[in-house]
Amino acid sequence: MSDAKLEGRAAALGIGSLRRHIFLCADQTEPKCCTREEGQRAWEYLKKRLRAEPGIFRTRANCLRLCEQGPIAVVYPEGIWYRGATAEVLARIVDEHLIGGRPVEDYIVARDPLAGPAQPQEPQ
Ligand code: FES
Repeated sequence: MSDAKLEGRAAALGIGSLRRHIFLCADQTEPKCCTREEGQRAWEYLKKRLRAEPGIFRTRANCLRLCEQGPIAVVYPEGIWYRGATAEVLARIVDEHLIGGRPVEDYIVARDPLAGPAQPQEPQ
């Protein structure tokens, strides 16, 4: 594939004007955080629900390594990790966080916006 064709594909996917990116653990090789059926149902909901939402990218992950109380999801750029991201909970995550910008506190496991450890301040 040529560079121009690949760049065109990225643009067609909205890459370059994304607001948020959600990763969801689903259809795992070895389902641990939830049943394969639960993960698949959550993923199908997310795909269908986000079809009409420009600027929000979705990726199915094979395992997000928490492996408990799934489906596990993580949303960037805030770096909000969610537990129990079933189709019903994803409905809230989509409306309140992905679109509304307010994380859904009831299901948050951890926060990590990838800023890294605090850097020591330079002496003035
Ligand atoms: S199997 Fe879902 S986080 Fe590991």
